[in-house]
Parts: sequence; C-alpha cells; structure tokens
Amino acid sequence: MNFINLDIQSDIASITINREKALNALNSDVLKELDQAIDIIEDRISDIRVLTIRGAGEKSFVAGADISEMVKLSPLEAREFLTYGQRVLDRIELLPIPVIAIVNGYALGGGLELALACDIRLATENAVLGLPEVSLGLIPSFGGTQRLTRAVGTSVAKSMILMGKKIDAKRAYELGLVDDVASFENLDEKLGKMIKTLKKMAPVALHAAKDAIYAASNTDIISGQELEVNYASMCFSTDDLREGMSAFLEKRKAEFTGK
Ligand code: CAA
Repeated sequence: MNFINLDIQSDIASITINREKALNALNSDVLKELDQAIDIIEDRISDIRVLTIRGAGEKSFVAGADISEMVKLSPLEAREFLTYGQRVLDRIELLPIPVIAIVNGYALGGGLELALACDIRLATENAVLGLPEVSLGLIPSFGGTQRLTRAVGTSVAKSMILMGKKIDAKRAYELGLVDDVASFENLDEKLGKMIKTLKKMAPVALHAAKDAIYAASNTDIISGQELEVNYASMCFSTDDLREGMSAFLEKRKAEFTGK
C-alpha cells in the first residue's frame, strides 16, 4: 500500500494515512487502501483489541476528500466516489472493536467525517475541525450531515455546515465532539491511557455496546431497546460476564478472554 500504513503490534492496530504533502486528503486510491486495510483488520479481528487512525505529520489528520480529483467528476462519477467513501467509513464505524481517531491537526470535510465514524476522538491542541464543503459548492458527503448532527445536534451542525465554521480543539472538547485534547508531547501518554482503559473492558460487551449505541441513531426507541435487551441477554452466555461479575464480588481484577 502506498498511502496507508497499517501496523499491527500485539493486539493494537494503527492506521496512518500517509499523504502528507496533500495534508492526507482522501482520493480514490487512499480510500481503496483504507478499505483494504479494513479487510486485513477484519481477517485478524479476534487478535485485535483497539484500532487507532491518524494522519501522517503534525499538521493534518485529513484535510478532506481530494478536491483536485473531485473537480473533474461528472455527477455519476461523483455519486460513485462519494458512495464509496461513505461505505468505507461505515465499515470503520461497524468494526466490532473500539476505534480511536487521533485528530492531529486539520480534520476538515471528509477528514472530520472520518473522525466521526470512529468511536473516540483524541485531538491535538492544533486541531481544526470543520465541514467547509458549502464554500466549495458542495455539501458534506461522507456522512457528515448525518453523523455531525447526531453528535452535536442540529443547531451546532447548522452553524458548522451552513457557515463553514471551523472550530479549534478546545471548542470541540466543550461540544463533546472530541473526548480529550493533548499536546504533541503528551499525546502518546493520553492515547496509551485510553487504550489501557479500553483493554480492561470485556471485548464481547464492547462490541454489543457499539451495536446498541449505533441502533440509538438508526432506529426507533422500542426497536432499539429490544435490541439492547437482546445484546444484554447474550452477554449472559459469555465467560467474560461470569468473570467480570465474579471478579467484582471477589474484589479482584477481571481477566477477560473475549469468550
Ligand atoms: N484536496 C486536495 N488537496 C488538498 C486538500 C484537499 N482537500 N487540502 C489541502 N490540499 C493540498 C493543497 O492543495 C496543497 O497542495 P500544493 O502544495 O500542491 O498546492 C497542500 O495540500 C497544502 O495545502 P495548503 O497550501 O492549502 O496549506 P495551508 O496550510 O495554507 O492550508 C488548509 C491548510 C486550511 C487545510 C487548506 O489546505 C484547505 O482549506 N484545504 C481544503 C479543506 C477543505 O475544503 N476540505 C473539504 C474537502 S471537500 C470534502 O471533503 C467532501 C466530502 O464531504 C467528502
């Protein structure tokens, strides 16, 4: 792969989008490689506990979909490109493991949309987040109108999308759009703590929780609660639930096996 570095160390997978000169903008080659990286992760999913995604360098996470490629597209070609981008981001959102976006700089357009498809966002102090597509004559189209609105509500989503308002890491934290902010110096430490916390959790329960939360945005409350109770009941068939509850009662640390 030319634009995506996938590194799997022990049980942590790390994707770096490696197109620094174009601020890691997503063209169709980058999307294809991201798709391939997810194939590899899915093949090895039982060995992986957490995925992280970042952009190469210290300036940009991802500055959006590639404008120099999009400018040449016909409506039908645009539909194909944008639908593909949506599908790749959906695959990330639906992975059964927690995915952390390390928002290291610009997260604009498709970049913020990629971060929104991840479960947790850790921003660096220089991060700038926004959906400036209307200034290009376009609208957010890798799921941004849907996921940003669900994440921060209609009012903030409208101000960010209609006015192309870019926000810094501090404001994104206040809005709950990012979960934590780190300087480049303490980024690894904060990331390490997040990963450590996630690795203490029961893997099957994490997967079930992700699916149930996904249903909250995509179904009515009655069906969502039915799904929730089905997942919760399924947890009672796992070794991990016995271990988690026994460990609590015996005042010891749980050792989960993911079974
Ligand atoms: N697509 C293609 N190339 C991009 C890019 C993008 N989204 N963003 C940056 N680049 C390229 C620039 O063209 C430039 O290339 P050259 O060196 O060959 O000229 C290089 O990256 C560096 O960028 P700048 O010189 O512009 O850097 P800067 O520090 O002055 O500005 C920036 C940084 C504010 C992020 C600015 O690059 C910018 O505004 N980028 C575009 C952001 C944007 O509008 N994103 C939305 C794209 S549309 C979209 O994503 C649709 C969707 O929903 C799927």
